[in-house]
Amino acid sequence: MPEQYRALQGFKDILPEDQPYWRFIEETAAEVARLYGYQRIDTPVLEDTSVFRRTSGEATDIVEHEMYSFDDRADKEGRRQNISLRPEGTAGVVRAYLEHGMFKLAQPVKLYYLSMSMFRRERPQAGRLREHHQFGCEALGEGDPAIDAEIIGMLYQIYTRLGLQNIRVRLNSIGDQNCRPQYIEKLKEYYQPLLSDCCNDCQTRFHKNPLRLLDCKNPQDQKKIAEAPRITHNLCEPCQEHFATVQRYLKFYDVPFEVDTLIVRGLDYYTRTVFEFTSTVDNVALNGGGRYDGMAEIFGGPHTPGIGFGVGIERVILEMKRQGIVPPAEAKPTAFVVYFGKSQEMTDTAARLTAELRKAGLKALTTYGGRSTKAQMKQANASGATFSIIIGDDELANGTVVVKNMHIGPESSENKQVSIKQSELLSYLREHQQ
Ligand code: HAM
Repeated sequence: MPEQYRALQGFKDILPEDQPYWRFIEETAAEVARLYGYQRIDTPVLEDTSVFRRTSGEATDIVEHEMYSFDDRADKEGRRQNISLRPEGTAGVVRAYLEHGMFKLAQPVKLYYLSMSMFRRERPQAGRLREHHQFGCEALGEGDPAIDAEIIGMLYQIYTRLGLQNIRVRLNSIGDQNCRPQYIEKLKEYYQPLLSDCCNDCQTRFHKNPLRLLDCKNPQDQKKIAEAPRITHNLCEPCQEHFATVQRYLKFYDVPFEVDTLIVRGLDYYTRTVFEFTSTVDNVALNGGGRYDGMAEIFGGPHTPGIGFGVGIERVILEMKRQGIVPPAEAKPTAFVVYFGKSQEMTDTAARLTAELRKAGLKALTTYGGRSTKAQMKQANASGATFSIIIGDDELANGTVVVKNMHIGPESSENKQVSIKQSELLSYLREHQQ
């Protein structure tokens, strides 16, 4: 197949064989989110570029290198708007919260989104896609640390229900506008004399985004990171108290968390609590989240504390596969209608009976194109249907069908097949299906 007709690099088809994982995660996540009072929201995939630029931060990898941004066609006045495919979900949700006046509702407003696609033009590698999907939750309008613990506890409950084990919950506080600037100064003071020995990325981070110095993966900088001052030792009193309460409340949710003072996150909007859940096998982040108490004001809205997380669904599926977790399989068909003969009466009867079963809500399959007896029975077997419904010339003449129970083995003394009237088929299947 010519290259241009293949899916783009970093973009993936989600094939039927993987769909049970998606359905299991989506259903589990939505069910638990609703348990905690979250309501679903969907936001558009395209937004004005400034929605992301202003919130994620100019000096982040996402905004600097990874956004799919372009000028839209000119409007009637000849103006062109620069728009972007969303790289993350939080900014759009906060924009929607403000645009629809949700700050006038009882607070907090708790929202979740399911399998929303996110676009980041990252270097393709294992676990890094250019289009990935997130399940996320955002609780807006409440600064109480109880909600920080609640949202982390909820996420942990989702992973537990999915059957995942050995998930590391890493928690940190990165302070607020009162204490973080002083900490950043301290961090820069510490790095200043070491800078000439730092990797190129760190030299840039020092000027543009000093907190990210702590996130450097380059071996040459690990010792510097290990000895760097920590934000947790430099929090102001209210931030300290907030962080302590989050940790106290987390125990109520039985979350085995660890404080990891190197979690700084790759987006600029975070304040106070930040967290990541990682796989114990390779430390890959399954989700990321935290508080963003200043975001609504960036959009010109009222002060609105907020906290949330985004789960990378593809990453969770990889981890489930690694842990050998098999999602519940799709229900097998109740009936598979086969017919032996090509007359119009025969094909019409098969099509009509199949349609009747489906209209009544039974999962029913059939074959097409007048295949051989052997081929049809093979298909019926492969479908895993409980019953095959067989119509031959005799059945057609008598208005009957043969119902064969495919789950009764040859050694069983049970009656494997019965002949019944076509008009009784539905009630028979309803009575006998497991
Ligand atoms: P994030 O950490 O950038 O946070 O992304 C959340 C999760 O999405 C990651 O932990 C990872 O599992 C997955 N992910 C990110 N990039 C990729 C990629 N290129 N390929 C595959 N999976 C990926 C956010 O997006 C924040 N909006 C989360 C949040 C919500 N914070 C507060 N509320």
